[in-house]
Amino acid sequence: MGSHVQPQTRFYLETYGCQMNIADSELVHGVMARAGFRAVERPDDADIVLLNTCAIRENAEERVLGRLSDLARLKSKRPNLRLGLLGCMAQHNRANLVEKAPYLDLVAGPDSYRRLPELIDHSRFDPTVDVRLDRSETYADFAPVSNGSVRAYLSVMRGCDKFCAFCVVPYVRGRERSLPLAAVLDQLKQLARDGTKEVVLLGQTVNAYRDGDSDFGDLLRQCASVEGIERIRFTSPHPSDMTDSVIDAMASELKVQPYLHLPLQSGSDRVLSAMDRGYSVAEYMTLVETLRERIPQLAMSTDIIVGFHGESDSDFEGTLELMRQVRYDSAFTFKYSLREHTKAFARGDTVSEEEKSRRLTEVIRLQQSISLERNRENIGHTYEVLVEGRARRGEGMVSGKTPQFKTAVFPGDPRRSGQNVMVRIESATGHTLMGAAV
Ligand code: SAH
Ligand code: SF4
Ligand code: F3S
Repeated sequence: MGSHVQPQTRFYLETYGCQMNIADSELVHGVMARAGFRAVERPDDADIVLLNTCAIRENAEERVLGRLSDLARLKSKRPNLRLGLLGCMAQHNRANLVEKAPYLDLVAGPDSYRRLPELIDHSRFDPTVDVRLDRSETYADFAPVSNGSVRAYLSVMRGCDKFCAFCVVPYVRGRERSLPLAAVLDQLKQLARDGTKEVVLLGQTVNAYRDGDSDFGDLLRQCASVEGIERIRFTSPHPSDMTDSVIDAMASELKVQPYLHLPLQSGSDRVLSAMDRGYSVAEYMTLVETLRERIPQLAMSTDIIVGFHGESDSDFEGTLELMRQVRYDSAFTFKYSLREHTKAFARGDTVSEEEKSRRLTEVIRLQQSISLERNRENIGHTYEVLVEGRARRGEGMVSGKTPQFKTAVFPGDPRRSGQNVMVRIESATGHTLMGAAV
């Protein structure tokens, strides 16, 4: 009897959600490649289609459900095709997913990726669900996939213990846990050897990082000592964890770039407290002042939610006022979306959909004008730009980021990717700086 050889299983993976999910998809690619699976570029060429999903807002889930029903049609034409749902939505809807989407062959949460090859094999015979959260899983032994890109993303902690009243992340990602510092440094050195120049350290509350006596400030200082890595960024920090140690590291380590995404959520103390955010407007403003004193070149962005339970006109006015005071360089703005399992879920909605839309339009309009002003302030100044490649638009143009994480576009040679070029800014839109090498 000859041994039965399984033909190589081909998988297609599509990713939704935040940077951490994108990094997780790279991890999944690594796990699958190690186990002998082959990645393909189109669902039509795959034996199994995997969606790595996001559960942060209802519309994120709706997008995935829509995509799933498209894929279910493909599956009805190709009965051997299997469909798998990974990530936060798999974790969030574990109780009713197989009802909502009976054609799913595999459901696996964010802490199950190590077991994916077995789970996928098993799903050939039976629908397979693995949504156990694991307090210690950090995937520290999985080297990041470096595809030779200028910038790489590295998850240094997973999960979240903050339990903001609106947010599903602690329920779908589980408890906070950090990679050992030595593992982060090893991964960083590996990336540097492969040609990566800039690294973005990731975590839902990345500055809550801890390994023994080492905190996030120590991690930044250690990362800065890795030769070959020229720029260090991180996201998302929580305002309550912006300790002196972290601020000191930002102020003193030249490689740590002067840009901070500091989620605000609301400019009203009443709302911040109902959200369980753990800081007041005054505390947030004091932090912003300290940061700007210590890091004069600092650019800042934020996240804002409009229409949270109980948000009155004057609460909302407070958010606009704070945005005018801080003058963020950019902002991500969201309508409050009720999420099952969260503390605020039972409180329901008090702001109508129309009013949420109105408030959203207003914060977007305000931010657009501030972003444009901010970017115009850069005109006439020269910034070091790390070239990433050809610009998306414009013949003969290349693009890269300034230290402040703004996209700069200028005439240049894409072969200079990975090099630093001094660029003098000549014009600006709300999203992009345009200039010329000096
Ligand atoms: N850990 C980060 C945020 C992660 S989620 C932090 O604490 O800042 C990214 C953003 O999505 C949040 O900052 C928040 O603005 C938004 N968000 C999260 N849950 C939401 C919900 N239920 N409705 C609307 N926006 C939400
Ligand atoms: Fe969600 Fe709050 Fe944790 Fe951010 S800090 S992931 S908003 S619970
Ligand atoms: Fe979404 Fe999960 Fe990220 S819920 S925002 S993909 S951690």
